[in-house]
Amino acid sequence: MNSRTEKTSFQDNAIRSARAILDESAVEAFDIAVTLGSGWGQASRMIGETFWEQDAKNLPGFSASGVLGHAGTLRAVVTPSGRNVLVIGARTHLYEDKGVRAVVHSVRTAAACGARIMVLTNGAGGIKGHWTPGTPVLISDHINLTANSPLEGATFVDLTNLYSTRLRDVARSVDPNLDEGVYVQFRGPHYETPAEVQMAKVLGGHIVGMSTALEAIAAREAGMEVLGLSLITNLAAGISPAPLSHQEVIDAGESAEAEISALLAKIMAKL
Ligand code: HPA
Repeated sequence: MNSRTEKTSFQDNAIRSARAILDESAVEAFDIAVTLGSGWGQASRMIGETFWEQDAKNLPGFSASGVLGHAGTLRAVVTPSGRNVLVIGARTHLYEDKGVRAVVHSVRTAAACGARIMVLTNGAGGIKGHWTPGTPVLISDHINLTANSPLEGATFVDLTNLYSTRLRDVARSVDPNLDEGVYVQFRGPHYETPAEVQMAKVLGGHIVGMSTALEAIAAREAGMEVLGLSLITNLAAGISPAPLSHQEVIDAGESAEAEISALLAKIMAKL
């Protein structure tokens, strides 16, 4: 199969999923899409009123979430100002070994549903020592250490200002104390070694995680504006002497959930 045929088929998949979502939810087009990572799960009920919800596994091209702490559903939510938001609570991670297309399928579907803004949230490790667990930070740029790209064929996409300055300014108009940093995506699912965290720091990274960068690239390819938000659930390996655990990530997410979800809802109201 040549790259043009391949490309058509991933677009077809996204269009098929979008058709199912738009038909089922009776929405003409979505305005914004948001992917809820670890710790951001309560946001959908604060963003507005949910009028449609479906298990990801019942939608073409999606699969059940492989990660504890992820909802596994897609929702249609209307904001108080009447904007339609596609809330994606079902993220596929690269480490699930379903391929890069599966990782970015939700983003491409959101674009095919009409969304012009893609909000990507995640739970992540912090490299800046003063970021205590529970701190939300804006993503200013990324370093993709997965050795993968969602782009197929000779698709040369510019990634300058990928995490929109305009949208970051909107977020800071809601919370002027929001710090920002460069997100470094590793493949996972193991956490980084302390030496890898030091490497990420030397390279200019401030946040380490296992999602988001590939999704942001696909969003840019689809012409969407991207806002990235990380919840620092733990200090990255070696920054704190304590060992890391997935339970710690879940616990930090749960304690911060109400506050950061409210923050996200306030930001979304201004997008
Ligand atoms: N590293 C990678 N992914 C993560 C981390 C981390 O420290 N915390 C939450 N997700």
